[in-house]
Amino acid sequence: MKAFNLKTLGAGLLLVGAGIASSPSALAGGGHGCGEYTEADGTKITLECSTAPIDLTNKGSLQRGATMFMNYCVGCHSAQYVRHSRIAKDLDIPPELMEKYLMVSAKQIGDHVTAGIDPELQKSWFGAQPPDLSLETRLRGDDWVYTYLLSFYEDPSRPWGSNNLVLANAAMPHVLHNLQKELGEEEYKARIGDLVNFMAWMAEPVRHDRKIYGAFVILFLLILLIPVYLLNKEFWKDVK
Ligand code: HEC
Repeated sequence: MKAFNLKTLGAGLLLVGAGIASSPSALAGGGHGCGEYTEADGTKITLECSTAPIDLTNKGSLQRGATMFMNYCVGCHSAQYVRHSRIAKDLDIPPELMEKYLMVSAKQIGDHVTAGIDPELQKSWFGAQPPDLSLETRLRGDDWVYTYLLSFYEDPSRPWGSNNLVLANAAMPHVLHNLQKELGEEEYKARIGDLVNFMAWMAEPVRHDRKIYGAFVILFLLILLIPVYLLNKEFWKDVK
């Protein structure tokens, strides 16, 4: 009875710690299917998600990603839960540079990131409203977003001349087409990696810290186990 109690307690504590440390986005993507498509000869292909190079400690990558996002995405998409000032502060971007180069739609650095073009107007152009991207990587998973951005292809039958393997008949045009041609495949992939890294940061700015807290929580619980074990021993000493 006694040993059982302690074991369940230990296991319970570890589970709590692991729960805090694990990331919800780690559960999505990564080897899972990222859409299906049919080849010309009729064979069905399931597209595997590619693994996004997420590293929230890499400030250079996050800064490049922020630059990409502000220059290429905010025209159409908003990111309503994040303020320009928070991006500048957390990613070590000097506020003057943020204001000068990275504030596309906003007037004040404290403003949230809003779409440059009215979403309603866009709906009439594209047939679908571009969704807010603040939490996109948590909704779809880092790897899905990464694979989606790498899966545009030319398709003359579509209104904008492009289509997407992950999201068939996507209403979004391949807005990075010119950049892809200019940079070449390797460099382009690296830039998309930076972009998704930034989007992962934006979806959960404390994700990196949370993992560190998780490790501390587990360590704390393990240390707590020692006095709890000794107390347990002490209490049962006289009963037996
Ligand atoms: C010209 C306007 C436009 C620009 C610029 C644009 N998008 Fe989109 N985007 C759209 C539209 C419209 C959709 C809706 C697609 C659909 O539902 O078929 C969309 C959908 C998406 C989706 C899929 C959302 C979902 O969960 O279904 C992602 C991810 C996305 N965009 C990311 C980006 C990123 C990152 C950039 C910057 C590189 C960007 N977009 C730039 C118009 C745009």
